[in-house]
Amino acid sequence: MHPFQCVLRARRCLRRGPLASVSWLLLRTCRAHSSVPSSACPSPQRQQEDGVWKDFSSRLATGPTFQDFLRSASVPPEQPSSSEVEDPPPYLTVDELLGRQRRVYLETYGCQMNVNDTEIAWSILQKSGYRRTSNLQEADVILLVTCSIREKAEQTIWNRLHQLKSLKSKRLRSRVPLRIGILGCMAERLKEEILNREKMVDILAGPDAYRDLPRLLAVAESGQQAANVLLSLDETYADVMPVQTSPSATSAFVSIMRGCDNMCSYCIVPFTRGRERSRPVASILEEVRKLSEQGLKEVTLLGQNVNSFRDNSEVQFNNAVSTNLSRGFSTNYKAKQGGLRFAHLLDQVSRIDPEMRIRFTSPHPKDFPDEVLQLIRERDNICKQIHLPAQSGSSRVLEAMRRGYSREAYVELIHHIRESIPGVSLSSDFIAGFCGETEEDHLQTVSLLREVQYNIGFLFAYSMRQKTRAYHRLKDDIPEEVKLRRLEELITVFREEATKANKSFVGCTQLVLVEGPSKRSAADLCGRNDGNLKVIFADVEMEDATDSGLRVRAQPGDYVLVKITSASSQTLKGHVLCKTTLKDSTAYC
Ligand code: 5AD
Ligand code: SF4
Repeated sequence: MHPFQCVLRARRCLRRGPLASVSWLLLRTCRAHSSVPSSACPSPQRQQEDGVWKDFSSRLATGPTFQDFLRSASVPPEQPSSSEVEDPPPYLTVDELLGRQRRVYLETYGCQMNVNDTEIAWSILQKSGYRRTSNLQEADVILLVTCSIREKAEQTIWNRLHQLKSLKSKRLRSRVPLRIGILGCMAERLKEEILNREKMVDILAGPDAYRDLPRLLAVAESGQQAANVLLSLDETYADVMPVQTSPSATSAFVSIMRGCDNMCSYCIVPFTRGRERSRPVASILEEVRKLSEQGLKEVTLLGQNVNSFRDNSEVQFNNAVSTNLSRGFSTNYKAKQGGLRFAHLLDQVSRIDPEMRIRFTSPHPKDFPDEVLQLIRERDNICKQIHLPAQSGSSRVLEAMRRGYSREAYVELIHHIRESIPGVSLSSDFIAGFCGETEEDHLQTVSLLREVQYNIGFLFAYSMRQKTRAYHRLKDDIPEEVKLRRLEELITVFREEATKANKSFVGCTQLVLVEGPSKRSAADLCGRNDGNLKVIFADVEMEDATDSGLRVRAQPGDYVLVKITSASSQTLKGHVLCKTTLKDSTAYC
């Protein structure tokens, strides 16, 4: 049983006042819980006084047990199409589970994983008969896919909820009531605190509960709040084909694993996304094949720690030896054994379509296998780009962060990567002002930024998160203004070094995957080079080297060669030479 389930039960049972405003599930568990005196639960008579309860009482009488709920949350049923809904829970009818063409507006916050989760959630709702809308005013259901990584991320959601409140209260009575849901990490972290703080929130679904969305929305139809924040040990949504949000998209994110076991001391992710689990290789390959058939030209394999990918679903591979960590690296968890590893997956994925670019994020610097580096070097369609989050340049801080490596081990790995993959583009994440960070530690981070000269960087001020090891064991002792000053300094140094690194492209020709018009000027197009840097060039006619003699304009999804004429810390600019293919062209200087 999930520990939260227990706490929630006890609290609900002890709360005074009608329970009709919470999901049936909580009512049901309340009645079934033997360790709580039955008098602590509101009497059935009292509950019947509430109109909503009346609607459900007869069905609850024959309703599911607590075990039924656990089963439906952890081993979800097959997703029916809207016309073939089977086996609804006993307290709902088939019709109530269907979306009945209600329009869903989805808004995504946070990381790429959340972009992918949004597509998974939408895929599930679409199969249940919901329609998607990109017009907020038109929506019957608004779902926010949320992030908890820093305080600021959560504050953005609270602010958004305040705006949505007025939309809900001004809703015309002639329309179906507007339902609002919080999905993802914030639902998981704050659980019923959200329902208590914002009464206008109707449903909560944690990152492992998206299959339950049709049921949660059906319960919310009756005016009750409904929540499922159970984390799972095995949910990977392997059989849910995410629905691409934009039909003109050239690239997609493919989730290959969920959760995280690393337990870095600052990080909330293991608590919001649960234990690490890998999706079976076969289902990943099937999804990539489908994306290739749809004409997509780039996939990014997503996981919190992709190089600890381990598909144990196929028994014959389970005798393999455990991972060898690179010299100077350690891990916070017991060594895991067997299974199909990331190098195997990357090899298989890259063979599907030679015209499809493959990226992955994020690897942890520990256990970075040579086979992966070799594959990146050998395969034209695996991008020569590695995101290697350092977090700090000080060994002392890295230890407090429980990262499992020193500055020296990290730098050695960077050298090894650069030797193995000449011209590799490097990016990283850094945190400024972690607990106990001295000025000297900060300068160490500055010097790491100078030494490595990353092409792309993501820099953050430390934000203390409850539940983490740092919250329990360390002191958030760096004043906010010092954190921000250090962050500014890191950003300045990063930009200076990235500008130098990116200027080395000037005069070179880059293979660019075209994404679409540039945001700044309709006369320009925008795409990305192999290293994932944005490249801007004028939208003019060029030679089509794939169809000799023709003159064409570049379209999203085309590969073009662009001669680079200028560079900044974030963008390259140039002029387009010709349309080409990934197979036939490489970048050159
Ligand atoms: N405060 C600030 N930044 C954080 N990150 C993760 N947790 C925190 C936190 N508590 C950053 C790390 C991570 C990236 C996704 O977010 O740099 O790599
Ligand atoms: Fe993504 Fe982490 Fe934010 Fe969750 S908390 S959305 S995993 S960045």
